[in-house]
Parts: sequence; structure tokens; C-alpha cells
Amino acid sequence: MQFGKIVAAVGSLAVLMGMSAGASAQGSLNLYCANQEEWCRAVVAAFEKKTGIKVNMTRKSSGEWYAQVKAEASNPKGDVWWAGTGDPHLQAGEEGLLEPYKSPMLAELQDWAVRQAEQSGYKTVGVYAGALGFGYNTDQLKKKGLTELKCWSDLLDPKLKGEVQVADPNASGTSYTMLATMVQLMGEDKGFDYLKSMHKNVNQYTKSGAAPAKATALGETTVGITFMHDMVTEISRGAPIKVIAPCEGTGYEIGGMSLIKGARNMDNAKKWYDWVISVEAQTELVKAGSFQVQSNKNAPTHPLAPKLGEIKLINYDFKKYGSSAERQRLLSKWGKDVKALPN
Ligand code: G6P
Repeated sequence: MQFGKIVAAVGSLAVLMGMSAGASAQGSLNLYCANQEEWCRAVVAAFEKKTGIKVNMTRKSSGEWYAQVKAEASNPKGDVWWAGTGDPHLQAGEEGLLEPYKSPMLAELQDWAVRQAEQSGYKTVGVYAGALGFGYNTDQLKKKGLTELKCWSDLLDPKLKGEVQVADPNASGTSYTMLATMVQLMGEDKGFDYLKSMHKNVNQYTKSGAAPAKATALGETTVGITFMHDMVTEISRGAPIKVIAPCEGTGYEIGGMSLIKGARNMDNAKKWYDWVISVEAQTELVKAGSFQVQSNKNAPTHPLAPKLGEIKLINYDFKKYGSSAERQRLLSKWGKDVKALPN
């Protein structure tokens, strides 16, 4: 009996040792994710299953990851920064915070995704695309006796006071895309005038870009400004939302991915990088409820995904609005001229 116990204990120790040897043979990966949390989790689970690599994943917003990667530059803790809007990835690339990499998978990607890589000296790459827009809760709109909203200008209606929600562009790439879109669509002065007027109707500047879509679904706000696909996610779950491509035209994002300079698990980071832009991984994303346009030419796009070809898109200048000087200048101007105003 005693002997049997010892044998069993030794046996399980061996199994544990074997397991830990196996796990450490594959190693780990520190992933900074800026996609919607549930999509981050789904793709991480599929990668871990496929490779045996243990992924330590955290979700934050695009601007928050940029700030963290910069703060950790002398002692990097993250290995790969996946998703979120491309502008802060481009800025980090310009500031020498990223490791250049020419993935063999580039040949499978859409031109707009490869262009991000070429423009940045291969320090970042496009992983998906999506157009900015807004959504409104149809029940709330009716209750407030408001008529259909179709244009950016409709969001200035005084009847919408306290009824519009959008993220803070310092934290959120979605909201920075809105700021840069208004400047490109209307010119800088008129763009800022627009944002100042809209400020009177804003109930909250959230941290995460997709949060206003969830709040619109719950009827906590009548209108939410987000990427259109984030509203479609809520609609697919049964929310009474109408999603709008604004009549004046709108901007769009190319979601980014980058390797962090000095990453401790660079080999695993490259394994993630190559795999997450494959058809297999992008299919997982679509299955997890992403309505983004995926970057792999052969990846499926969900039939409900907003069709970029049918939306009036501006010619978004990623180089200029992803540059360090311009991004910093616009964010500090927004803080002083817009957010500081009483509403
Ligand atoms: C959502 C969208 C992504 C976008 C991201 C940006 O997850 O689905 O397409 O890139 O938001 O997040 P952020 O919180 O930085 O606005």
C-alpha cells in the first residue's frame, strides 16, 4: 500500500515534470491585445491549442498600449502588440520602439495591409480594416421623438444633449480615428468646431473604443460613435441598433500588428505574427463575432460585415496622421480646445 502510494507519487511527479518540460519547451508569449476582449480570447485559445505556447494576454486600448510600449522601452515586457488602430503602431515604429519583420505571410495579404508594412519599414503590418460610423438605439430614438439620423451633422442637434457617447482619443484608437477624420473631412478649423459643438451632446468619453456600442445596445446612450463593425456585433446579438455610414463620408482604420523591440520571446512572437494573419486564424476571428474586413486575401468576411466598397470613404492619410508629431499635436489640441470645455 505504502509502496503503491510512493510509486503513484513518483509517477505523478514524472507526469508533472514531463508536462512542465513540455510547456517550457514551447515557452510563452506576452501578448498586448487591442481587439475586442472576446476576440482576443478566442484567437489566443486557438493558438495555444495549436502550438502549446502559453500566451499571457492583456486587453487595453490602442493609445494605452502605445504609451505602455514607450514607457517600457528600456525593459520591454510585451512581445507582440496585436490589433487596435494602425496610427499608434506607426507612431511607435517611427519612434524606434518596434522590431522590423518581413513575414513570409505578407504575400497572402491585401494591398492595404502590405502598404502599412512598406510605409513603416516593416515595423508594423495591417491586420484588418473597418469604417468609422455611428449607431443609434432605435427604441431610445423613438422615445425621444427624434427622427432618423443620417449624417455627422445630425449629431449636433441640441435634442441629443447628453445622448452621444464616444471614446477619449488619448486612450482609444477608434476615437483618434474620429478626430483625424473630422480634420481631413472638414479641414482643421471646421473639424475642431464640429468636435466642440458635439462635445455639448457627449455624455461620456470612454476608454475603450467599442464601449459606446455596448452602451448603445443597452440604451444607456442613444447614439454611439464607433467603428461600424462594432455596432454590427451588437446587432448580431439582438440589440435594437441602426448602424450608419455618415452621409458626408467617413474615415476608416487599418488595424495594426507589431513586434516589440527587445521582446524576450521573439521566436514565439514571430510564430504568433505569422499565424494570426493566416486564413486559419482569421477564420477563428470571424467565428468569434468579428465583422472586420480581414487582411488575408483568402480569409472569409462575415456576410453582415459593413461593405467598405459601398461606403463613402475619405482618402485617409495614414502616414501623416500616424506620424508622431501630428498625433501628439492633435491630441493635445483636442485636450485643450474640446475636452476642457464645459458641456
Ligand atoms: C474595437 C474594434 C477594432 C479597433 C479597436 C480599437 O475592438 O473592433 O477594430 O481596432 O476597437 O480599440 P480602441 O479601444 O483603441 O479604440
